[in-house]
Amino acid sequence: MRLVTAIETIGKLRDENRRAGRKVGLVPTMGALHDGHGSLVRKARAECEVVIASIFVNPLQFGPKEDFEQYPRDLEGDRAKLESWGCDVLFTTSPSAMYPNGFQTFVTPEGPLSAEFDGAVRPGHFKGVATVVLKLLNLTGCDIAYFGRKDAQQCALIRRMALDLNVPSKISVCPTAREQDGLAMSSRNVYLTPAQRAAAPNIYKALLAARARVQGGERDALQIREALARDLAAIEGGSPDYADVVDPDSFERIQQKIPGRFGAPAPALAIAVVRFGSTRLLDNLRLDEDGS
Ligand code: PAJ
Repeated sequence: MRLVTAIETIGKLRDENRRAGRKVGLVPTMGALHDGHGSLVRKARAECEVVIASIFVNPLQFGPKEDFEQYPRDLEGDRAKLESWGCDVLFTTSPSAMYPNGFQTFVTPEGPLSAEFDGAVRPGHFKGVATVVLKLLNLTGCDIAYFGRKDAQQCALIRRMALDLNVPSKISVCPTAREQDGLAMSSRNVYLTPAQRAAAPNIYKALLAARARVQGGERDALQIREALARDLAAIEGGSPDYADVVDPDSFERIQQKIPGRFGAPAPALAIAVVRFGSTRLLDNLRLDEDGS
C-alpha cells in the first residue's frame, strides 16, 4: 500500500488514474479504524480498480469543547488494517496542508438536513464535514465514495451536497457494522468504561423494539418516538440526546402517521443518540425494512 501525505502527490495520482481510465473508490475516515471502516474498504475493493482511504482528523468538524485533541489516533495500526483489507493508497495529511493560511471557502449546508439533530447539537459540525468531504472528492477524483449508514444524517447531507453541487462522484451508502452484541462499531467506543460498554448495546435493542412495533402494525410516529425515548432513558448510565422518527432522505420529522400504501410503511428511520459521560453514541434503524 502506498502512503501519500502531500496534497500535490494525491492530485498527481488523480490525474494519472484519470488518464489511465481507472475506476477509483474513496473511503474517507478519521482513523482509529475498526471493522465498520473495513466493510467500506472491502466494498470499494470489490467494485473499484484503485482503492484510496483517507485518514484525516478534521479540526473543522469538531466544536471547541469536543474531543479533537483526544480523538484516538493510531496510524501504524490503521496502516496494517488497511493493508489487510486490500487498500491501495492511504492519504493522510496535516490540518495546515488541508487548510493553509488564507483558506476561506466553505461548504455551508443551510437547510433542514443540517439544522436539526446532530446539526443542532453540534453547530458547525456539518459545515466542517461537507467542506472536507468535497475537498477529498476533488483531491482524489474518485468515481465512488463510500460512507456508512451508522452516520445516517451525514450520509443524507453528503448525498444532498453531491446533488446540489453537481459532484460527479457517486455516493455509496453501506450498512452499519455491529459488534456481536449489536453495538454499532465506532472509533469512540474505546472511550467507554466496562459498565458503559455493557449498557451500550441497549441502544440497538431499543431501535429493534421500535422496528418491531412498526412491523406489528403501529403507524403512529408519536407513539413510536415516545416508546423509543422511554427505552433509551431506561439505559443504565446513559442519557439520551435525542430519539426520533424521520424521513431517511430529508431528515424531516415524521409528525403523525408513518405514511404507507397497501399496509406497507413508507421509508422511515428511527434515530437515537445516547451520551455515556461525554461520549456520544449514534445509531439508527430503518423501521420499514424487516431486517431479513
Ligand atoms: P469516521 O467516523 O472515521 O467514519 C468514516 C466512515 O466510516 C463514515 O462514512 C462512517 O459512517 C463509517 N462508519 C463508521 N462506523 C461504521 C460502522 N459501524 N459501520 C459502517 N460504517 C461505519 O465519519 C467520519 O469519519 C468523518 O465525518 C468523515 C466523513 C471522514 C469526514 O471527516
